[in-house]
Order: sequence, then C-alpha cells, then structure tokens
Amino acid sequence: MTYSVSQLLKQDLPLQPIEINGWVRTFRANRFIALNDGSTLNNIQCVVDFEQTDAAILKRITTGAAVHIEGELVESQGKGQKVEIKVNSIAILGDSHPDDYPIQPKKHSFEFLRENAHLRTRTNTFSAVMRLRSSLSFAIHKYFNDNGFYHVHTPIITGSDAEGAGEMFRVSNLDAKNPPLNKDGSVNYKEDFFGKETNLTVSGQLEAESYAMSLGKVYTFGPTFRAENSNTSRHLAEFWMIEPEVAFMDLAGNMDLAEAFMKSVLNYVLEHNREDLEFLEQRLLDEEKTKPAADRSEMSLIDKIKFVVDNNFKRVSYTEAIDILKDSKPNKKKKFKYIIEEWGADLQSEHERFLVEKHFKCPVILFDYPANIKAFYMRLNEDGKTVRAMDILFPGIGEMVGGSQREERLEVLKEKMKALDIDEKELWWYLDLRKYGTAVHSGFGLGFERLVMFATGMGNIRDVIPFPRTPQNADF
Ligand code: 4AD
Ligand code: MG
Repeated sequence: MTYSVSQLLKQDLPLQPIEINGWVRTFRANRFIALNDGSTLNNIQCVVDFEQTDAAILKRITTGAAVHIEGELVESQGKGQKVEIKVNSIAILGDSHPDDYPIQPKKHSFEFLRENAHLRTRTNTFSAVMRLRSSLSFAIHKYFNDNGFYHVHTPIITGSDAEGAGEMFRVSNLDAKNPPLNKDGSVNYKEDFFGKETNLTVSGQLEAESYAMSLGKVYTFGPTFRAENSNTSRHLAEFWMIEPEVAFMDLAGNMDLAEAFMKSVLNYVLEHNREDLEFLEQRLLDEEKTKPAADRSEMSLIDKIKFVVDNNFKRVSYTEAIDILKDSKPNKKKKFKYIIEEWGADLQSEHERFLVEKHFKCPVILFDYPANIKAFYMRLNEDGKTVRAMDILFPGIGEMVGGSQREERLEVLKEKMKALDIDEKELWWYLDLRKYGTAVHSGFGLGFERLVMFATGMGNIRDVIPFPRTPQNADF
C-alpha cells in the first residue's frame, strides 16, 4: 500500500510492505535519505543499503529528485526520529541536477525564494505557511457553514466600482492602442465585449448584499483586484477577501460576528496545525535573537494567536481614537509623521499601529468614522456626520477588516450617491434592494492574506500567497 509521510508517522511498528513517493531533501553518507512529500513538515528517514543498490542509482539520489520507495517501516536506530523506512528498492522518478537545483539544503533569503515562487514550497517555511493558508481557508468555510451562512460566488468581472475608490483594472477586448472613438473623442465602449466599461471586481459586497436580502446570511470568498500603486508589505494587486453579509443585523451585531469568526478560525489552526505553527514560531524566535533586546517581540507566535482568541477586542469610536492620538507621541522623542490636527482626518497606518501596538495592545475595532472618508454605501448616523463603519486593526498587521452597516434608506442613499457623483443608472439594481423590502443589514471584508500573515508571523504579504501580484510583478 502507498502511504504518505504523515500517515506513516502514525502507524504501529513494524509495518510491511509499504510504498511511498516523495522528494529527496538530503542524502547523507550514501545511506540516509530525508524524504518529504508535503503531507507534513517532517521528513521521514529512509535508509538505503548501499551495498545492495546499483551505484548508478545512488548517484541519482540528489536533493530535489522525485523517488518511489518500497520497504518496511521500522523503529529507528538513529537519534531525532522514532521510525524510519528500511529501503528494499528505490526508483528514481525524476532527476534533479544537483548543480543547478535552486533549493539547496541551506537557508535561502525570502527575496531569493520569491524569485523561485514555483519551487519555494519545497522549503519548510513555505510549506508550513501554505498548509496553514489552506487550513485557514477550510476553517473559514467551516465557520460559515456551521453558522447557517450560504456561500455565494459573486462575479469577477463587474460593471460597478463597489468601493468608489477608482482603483480598478479595466477589462476590455478593444484594441488598446487604437480603440473605436465617439464623436467627442472618448472611447466608445459600446463596441466592447460587454457593450460597456467593465473591470475586475474590487469587492463582492454589493452583489452579496443582494443575496443577503433574500437568503439572509451569506458570504463570499474570492479573489479581488486593486490597481492601487502601493508597493508595501501589506498590499497586493490580487488578494482574496472574505465578505459575510447579513440581513437584519446592525453594526454591533457585525462587530460580534467579526470577532467570533476571527477567534474561531484562529482557534482552528491552533488545534489543527500545531506542528507548522511551532516550526514558524521557532523561525521567528531565531530571527528575534539577531535583533537588539529592545526591538524583540514580547510574545511568541502561538502566544499572540492565543491572546487574540482568549481576549475581547477593544471597541473604540473614531472620535475617542482621535482624542487619544492628539495627546500621544509614538515614543518619547518622536512625533507622528502625519499629525492629526482635527476631527475628520483619515487615520494613517502609523496611527492605527500606535493604537493597537502601543496604546491598547490588543485588536481594536474602530467604529463610527466621519462620513466623508468612507464609502458611499455606509449607514449615516443620527448625528448626520458619522457613518456606521468599522475597521478592525491587528497588532503587527494594521487594518485586517473593513465593514459597515449599510444605508438601507432609499432616499438617503440616493442623496449620498448624488453628492458623490455616482450614477443611479449604474446601480439601479442596488437601489432596488432599498425599494423592495429594505431592511437593516451589515457585513465586512477580511483580507485573507493579512489573516495568514498574522497566523504565520510572516512579515511580507508576498510570502503568504502562492504567486503574488504586485506592481511590476506578474512573473509566474
Ligand atoms: O476595507 P476594504 O476596502 O473594504 C471593502 O472592500 C468592503 N467592500 C468590505 C465589505 O464591507 N464587504 O477591504 C477589506 C479588507 C481590508 O481591511 C484589508 O484587510 C484587505 O481587505 N485589503 C487588502 N489586502 C491586501 N492587499 C490590498 N491591496 C488590500 N486592500 C484591502
Ligand atoms: Mg478599508
């Protein structure tokens, strides 16, 4: 029978015959293969009898080679592992030339591995990160499924700008250099495939709202695209977003949902991905040792995750946050680069980080933002100047979630759109939701890669998605 490494590590001994496929991580002393098949962080030691094995085959057992092994699972004589495979026969399925195979058994920089994104999951760090990513994705679907939500597939190509931020990738089959023109010189999109301007979606929210207003509790989990030119360690041009949307739920309910949901999925990986988490935690501890004592993190990776799972998120209004920030300095000498002079200013990431990392030292839900710095669809408060928006800020990450209670009143929404110059005709179907059986409803968007960053302790968003898309980079 063919086993995976993770299955073999759980078997009673001795066991034979067994078969296994995998890739050679190292081959020592013409005898000991460390074999990995991706099923677990652990390699299994396979002991080759070099006297019984063809010399030509022994030469082809190199780092990166794919092999098929038949043998027996026995107690290990060596240190560091309980079991090993006594190899009876080995077949080389795919050679890997030792001189030019990029992933050598040594430490490679993340920059180097990014250039080899197609091979980087052959390292312990990236295989652990991607197993965690997969587990988080499963935990997310499980949470919603367990809690009565329906999964909705919202379109990737859309005709609307959900966020009104104008950071969209245009989709068009017109000749880019020589497009058909209208009389006034503007591009004639009537001749385009869809007969109008279209773009890759920045968010599935508006469509999710339509489904919430009939199915009640829904969520989307899909790729979203933003052409914002921010070359930071927290932005991607293509990222995955989870967007629940719930009818008859107000902003307070939205906060409760977001908090319970995030705790649940993080708890899932604490319970199911211990090995990978412990490996990543050790990697971070080693990295910390190279820093000056003052810059070292106070908590280990697993403790940070546990802290989030076990403690309440702090809920703070925008207005309270501004009061705190006005009186604060990030440290004794330094001032913020961007000083908040008055109520109404948008918070910069330095302010968000100050609030979560220095002031509250826990995840913070900021709510009731000034209307003029938030999207058109947010529910206006009775004060006429704030909206029922919420952002969830995480230590080490900054903004993890953005959400709101939605404006459910047709006339108020129309007025808002008019003020922002949003064409009613473009969103006629969205307005219909307010015309026919409108109701209070709310939802939020969680940036999946930012969650993976938090759960893995990785510092750059490019290292938590298989093939990152960033400005000037779509190589794979
Ligand atoms: O705050 P945002 O823009 O909110 C929305 O799109 C709403 N329509 C969501 C909703 O209410 N249904 O984005 C939501 C989250 C952010 O908090 C952040 O975590 C992530 O998406 N995000 C990005 N992640 C990676 N790269 C980018 N360029 C991102 N932009 C936003
Ligand atoms: Mg946001």
